[in-house]
Amino acid sequence: MKSYRIASIPGDGIGKEVIAAGVEVLNALAEQENFRLDFESFDWSSERYLRTGAYIPEGGLEKLKTFDAIFFGAVGAPDVPDHISLWGLRLPICQGFDQYANVRPTRVLPGIKSKLEGGDRIDWVIIRENSEGEYSGSGGRVHRGLPEEIATETSVFTRVGVERIHRFAFELSRGRRRKHLTLVTKSNAQRHGMVLWDEIFYEVAKKYPDVQTDRVLVDAMTTRMILKPESIDTVVASNLHADILSDLAAALSGSLGIAPTANLNPERKFPSMFEPIHGSAFDITGKGIANPIATFWTASMMIEHLGEPTAAARLMKAIERTTEEQVFTPDLGGVHDTRAVTNAVKQAL
Ligand code: IPM
Ligand code: MG
Repeated sequence: MKSYRIASIPGDGIGKEVIAAGVEVLNALAEQENFRLDFESFDWSSERYLRTGAYIPEGGLEKLKTFDAIFFGAVGAPDVPDHISLWGLRLPICQGFDQYANVRPTRVLPGIKSKLEGGDRIDWVIIRENSEGEYSGSGGRVHRGLPEEIATETSVFTRVGVERIHRFAFELSRGRRRKHLTLVTKSNAQRHGMVLWDEIFYEVAKKYPDVQTDRVLVDAMTTRMILKPESIDTVVASNLHADILSDLAAALSGSLGIAPTANLNPERKFPSMFEPIHGSAFDITGKGIANPIATFWTASMMIEHLGEPTAAARLMKAIERTTEEQVFTPDLGGVHDTRAVTNAVKQAL
């Protein structure tokens, strides 16, 4: 029997609740589809940071590297500054394992009503550059506390980094029905990095004559997502632009509680990481009402990445059956809790 080793990192807040639900559903799926998942859970969290001074213990990444995939919940806590938690846990994994392609599908699942006129036709994939750009961490602060204090936050765009994400985006677009890719940019104002970003896009485009393209400034993209949602198929955007657009996309598709993501190392030199994009959500932590759908959807992406497409499709069908029957948590206007949605998905499996 095939088996896969999965590192689960529930992290903070509702991450713990949704990852527990995800592991339960994945185990049920594996049993039916005749493969095994060996989960090992890591307590890397803000609680651990406050207790020991580190999110990731000594040698942690070396150990994590040996797994087939990483199933991640959320990081962020009210008593730790957000930049400490992000740079303490999530970014060392994304950047350390060269998970440069962040894939964020958005679709209005059956039974869910988009708040947008014509929104039921939303079927997008946002591809986010995940290793550099505005999240490169390059910069610093000097003259702290003085009137002449300076802080710089430098966006870094490298030819290697830009080329590989555009190539990835073209490959993904080519595999979709519409074969249409939108380049999101801000090269009017950001005249160095973003101009390189655009130039390389059109260099790479030459090798994909079957993919139609267009180019939109990021500010205009927000209005296009609202006013002409049907004109969008696949989107490639920088780290920060895609971060912002993907929250808008999630809200338009019904709720942040359903949006999944894959942090991929396409060359498979390192394990890839799968997570819901909602974050730790302190306001509802411990109430048992977190929406586990985003985690189940990301679990389906993980299973597909591991090479089990039939099982991945089966899980997706079970999710859709559950949303169709409107077994919804409060974020989708329902009265059900995490337990009920988890049971419904297991039943549908
Ligand atoms: C995301 C999240 C993160 C990000 C947060 C948690 C820092 O919003 O994955 O989209 O900005 O990358
Ligand atoms: Mg975000």
